[in-house]
Amino acid sequence: MSSMESFYFGGEVLPVWSGACSCGSAGCGGRSYKYIREFVQRVCSCSSLMMSSVKVECVIKAGALIGEGPLWEESQQTLMFVDIAGQKIHRWRPTTNQSESVETEDFVSFVVPRVSGGYLAGMGRSIVAVEWSTQMMTSLVELDEEKPNNRLNDGKVDPRGRLLAGTMGREKRPAEVQRQQGSLFSVTSDLSVTKHLTQVDISNGMDWSLDQKTFFYIDSLSLTVDAFDYDSDSGRLGNRRVVYHLAEGEGLPDGMTVDADGRLWVAIYNGGRVLNIDPETGVCLQTVSLPVTKTTSCCFGGPDFSDLYVTSASLGLDQSERRKQPLAGGVFRVSGLGVKGRPSVSFSG
Ligand code: BGC
Ligand code: CA
Repeated sequence: MSSMESFYFGGEVLPVWSGACSCGSAGCGGRSYKYIREFVQRVCSCSSLMMSSVKVECVIKAGALIGEGPLWEESQQTLMFVDIAGQKIHRWRPTTNQSESVETEDFVSFVVPRVSGGYLAGMGRSIVAVEWSTQMMTSLVELDEEKPNNRLNDGKVDPRGRLLAGTMGREKRPAEVQRQQGSLFSVTSDLSVTKHLTQVDISNGMDWSLDQKTFFYIDSLSLTVDAFDYDSDSGRLGNRRVVYHLAEGEGLPDGMTVDADGRLWVAIYNGGRVLNIDPETGVCLQTVSLPVTKTTSCCFGGPDFSDLYVTSASLGLDQSERRKQPLAGGVFRVSGLGVKGRPSVSFSG
């Protein structure tokens, strides 16, 4: 990336990246406008500029009901993900294209590796230890005991090895949920539980800034991506603010990941795309479109963490949508983005 300067357009001063653009369109002037893809389209129709080397392919035709929770397991060079309503945990190895699955007895909403071996998964309202080879599952803690209709949703391990996991109320149809029933919890290695937030609609994507001082969080029905100050010693959250707001009708923010440059990649459920957001400026830097509408979550993976894996759902599509989206429920690999992700952290217990 070369020099930054400002560009005055339509009353707005926008940052410009003076890079190489060979589109030749009038108004482009050989510059690639780094910020706001829509702006690039308006000025020089060279939107392909940022996207030209970006390739999207369906790598697992999983046909998942709600494909979710992708996680790259570096030590195994495998991609883990779950099918929440299909009640399965999947593990896929790109080099051999081999998949393995474990069935669960309840909705399974995330899976994370443990330092002590095996995995932790969110099942129903329980945090469960999963032994992959024997398929043995042992419930360790139950959350939201006073709310039997609730279930866990997204979960992720913080930079210090604590699990953060959220819940949601009963969902009549996808994204139609009993409101404000959910909470956000953390679970430490000794299995002590702290409730951080209440009145959550659909507890969803989470990740941390590079300096560990900010926690990014999505409650989907708020249509926002929020940030909190994060104290990684105590795990305490404070100073909630909005980083990015989706417009009504754009879809719901769902799962997310932070890349090695500290930027957010947010899957948009019912939006068929992943947004790359700069949390410092609140600007959407790039949009990656996928051939399915119910994009649910994403993570970076691959040998050098340069592939973005995106999960999707098929539950809730009608017959005609299903015909138009034969890959719904599949897992997609986006390559050529020019950014890398960070390794996932294992649960410290
Ligand atoms: C949940 C779904 C929900 C979707 C949209 C997912 O994380 O698991 O049940 O419909 O988000 O908010
Ligand atoms: Ca989710």
